[in-house]
Amino acid sequence: MSKFKRTLITTALPYANGPIHIGHLAGVYVPADIYARYLRLKNEDVIMIGGSDEHGVPITLKAKNEGVTPQDIVDRYHGIIKNSFEKFGISFDVYSRTSSKIHHETASEIFRKLYDTGKLIERTTEQYFDEENQQFLADRYIIGTCPKCGFERAYGDQCESCGTSLSPTELINPTSTISGNPPVLKETKHWYLPLNDYEPWLVEWILEGHKEWKPNVYGQVKSWIDNGLQPRAVTRDLDWGVPVPVEGTEGKVLYVWFDAPIGYISATKELFNTLSPSGRDGEGLWETYWKDPETRMLHFIGKDNIVFHCIIFPSMLKAEGTYNLPDNVPANEFLNLEGDKISTSRNWAVWLHEYLEDFPGKEDVLKYVLTANAPETKDNDFTWKDFQTRNNSELVAILGNFVNRALVLAQKYYEGVVPERGELSDYDKETLAAISTIKGEVEKSIDNFRIRESLKNAMDLARLGNKYLADEEPWKVVKTDPERVKTIMNICLQITANLTICLEPFLPFSMEKLRGFLNFEKMDWEMFGNTELLPVGHKVNTPELLFEKIEDATIEAQIQKLLDTKKANEIAGAKATPAKENIEYDEFAKMDIRAGTVIECEKVAKTKKLLKLKIDTGIDQRTVVSGIAEYYEPENLIGKQVSVLVNLAPKQLRGIESQGMILCAENADGSLSIVSPDVVVKNGSEIK
Ligand code: MF3
Ligand code: ZN
Repeated sequence: MSKFKRTLITTALPYANGPIHIGHLAGVYVPADIYARYLRLKNEDVIMIGGSDEHGVPITLKAKNEGVTPQDIVDRYHGIIKNSFEKFGISFDVYSRTSSKIHHETASEIFRKLYDTGKLIERTTEQYFDEENQQFLADRYIIGTCPKCGFERAYGDQCESCGTSLSPTELINPTSTISGNPPVLKETKHWYLPLNDYEPWLVEWILEGHKEWKPNVYGQVKSWIDNGLQPRAVTRDLDWGVPVPVEGTEGKVLYVWFDAPIGYISATKELFNTLSPSGRDGEGLWETYWKDPETRMLHFIGKDNIVFHCIIFPSMLKAEGTYNLPDNVPANEFLNLEGDKISTSRNWAVWLHEYLEDFPGKEDVLKYVLTANAPETKDNDFTWKDFQTRNNSELVAILGNFVNRALVLAQKYYEGVVPERGELSDYDKETLAAISTIKGEVEKSIDNFRIRESLKNAMDLARLGNKYLADEEPWKVVKTDPERVKTIMNICLQITANLTICLEPFLPFSMEKLRGFLNFEKMDWEMFGNTELLPVGHKVNTPELLFEKIEDATIEAQIQKLLDTKKANEIAGAKATPAKENIEYDEFAKMDIRAGTVIECEKVAKTKKLLKLKIDTGIDQRTVVSGIAEYYEPENLIGKQVSVLVNLAPKQLRGIESQGMILCAENADGSLSIVSPDVVVKNGSEIK
C-alpha cells in the first residue's frame, strides 16, 4: 500500500446536545466503519477515532432551558450516543469526549504553542454585553428583529424565519435572552488565526496537490479560497469550554471549532494510554499516528464540516508545525428523510436509539440500506419503502436465500460434510474465477472511497451464487447424476465462505453468524478469492435464517410515526389567525347558544363529511347536520353533550333541514373538536 505504513481514521465528533440519527450514520460513521474494517481485514495498521464534541453555545443554551449544568447535558447525550454506536457495531478503537482532562490539556497546549510562537494575532472588537449579568453574549444569546424580513425573534447569528445569516449588530432592538435587557457594546480582546496568510500554501497543498479529492470536497475548498480567507477568531467570551491558557483572560474559552478537532489528538492519546500497561503511552505511540510521515490521516465527515477539516484545522496543524496533514477528506453530502431535510428541532429523523428498539437484531439491515443509498455524490433520500424493498428483495431474496439454500442442501445431501469436487465444467470454472474478479472490483471501489459502489460489487458475489444455484438446479440433478451434485454443492459452499470475508466490512453481525453456520473461523482479506476455503470433509451446521422479511404493517407503523410528527409540527408551527374586528356585547347576545345532548346520530348517505344528529336542546328535539363525520364516529356521539346555536336560520343540506349548528374548535390542521360544557349541565342551559 503505497508509501504509507499505517492509517489514522477520524470521524466527526457529534455534538453531545442530542441523540444521533440515520443522517449521522450514513454520512460519517458507516462509511468510516466499513473502511476501517476493510483495512483491518487486510491486516493493515489502522486506528479509528471517535468521541463527543461537548463544548459550544447550543449546549449551554440547552442546559439553561432545562435548568441543569452543561456537564449534565453532555453526560446524558455522550452516554446515549456512545451506546448507539456500540449497538450498531461502529468499531471505534476509542470513543472519547472533549470535556475530559486529557483533552483540555491537549487543546491548551496547542493553543499555547501557537500563542507563544506568534502564530495568533490579537484583536480588540466591540461585542454585546449584558450589564445586569456582567457577561458578553454569544450570538445565540441575543434576539431581535430581523433587518431583512421583520421577524421579531431572530438570533444574533441567523434569522430562522427567512434563513439570512446575521451578525448581532444587525438586529433591530437587540435583547439579551439572559436578562431580557438591551445589551450594550463593549470592547473585548480575542485571538485570531490569520487564515489569509495560509492562502498560498493551501492553494499549493490542496488545489494543486490534492486534485484526487472528491469533487464535492475539492469544489467547496476552492470556492472558499477563491473568495479570499479572513482571520478567524479562535477564542470566545463564554464560561463553558477549554479556558484560554493565558493570564488575565477569565471568562474566555477556546472556540469550539478550535478545540473539537484537537479532540482527535486527545482521543488518540487516551487510546494508547489505556492500551499501555503503565497507563501512560510510554512509547509515544500516539505521536507515531499523528506525526510519522508514514502514517496517512483520513477525516470522515459530512459536507457542513468541510471548511473546518480542509482549511482551518490543517492551518492550525501547519502553524503548530509538527503534525501530519490529512491525506484525504472523503466528505459526504446529506441524507434526507422521506423527502424532507432531517431536523432535530422538528424531530424529523429516525433516531438510532429508537430504531434499536423498533428493530432489534436488525442493525446490519439499516447499515446496508444506508450504504446502498449513501449520499456520496449528492444528497439522497431515505424512505421506509426503500428500506423494506432493500431488505426483502436484496438481503432476504438474494443473500439470505442463497446461503440458506446452500447450507440446507448440504445438510440434506451430505449431512453438512463438504463433498469432493469432480471434473469442472466451463461454467464451474467461470464461476470460481468470478470470485477473484469481484474481489478486485470491491477493492477498486473501496480504495477510492466509493463505498456505495463497493457494496454493490460485494453483493455481486451473492448474486453469482444465487444464479449458479438456480442454473445448476442440484435438486433436479440429484435424481439423475448424484456425483455431479457434489461438485455443485462444493462450489456453492466455497462461494458462501468467500461471502463471509467479502461482506464482513458491511454486514459484520450477519457475517459472524454465517461463519458460525459454516464452522469457519479464521479469515482475512487475503483469503478472499480462494476457492478451497472449506476443505473436503469439513462439517457445516444447520443454518438459521440470516435475514427475515419485513412486513408492510411494520413499515406502515414507521411511516405513521413520521406523519404524526409532521402533524404535530404543523400544529406547533401554525400561527393563529388574527383577531376579528371588535363587536358590542349586544351583537354577541343575539346568538342563542344552548347545551344539548345528542340522542340520535348517523352518517348522511353518500357524503364523507356530514353527520345527521338529533339533539335534545331542552327546548325541543331537533335535527342538526354537522360537518364532523371525519372526526367522530356516530355511535360515540350518542349521549354526548354539545353546544348548539339554536337560533341560526334553518338550512337545507343534502335534502335535510338543519335546525342549528354545533360549535367546534378548528385545529391548525383543519380537524374539528366539539366544544362541550366542562361538566354536564341541564339541557337548554344558555351558553353566554
Ligand atoms: N460537532 C461537529 C458537528 O456535529 C463536528 C465536529 S468535528 C471535529 O458538526 F473535528 F471538530 F471534531
Ligand atoms: Zn428574517
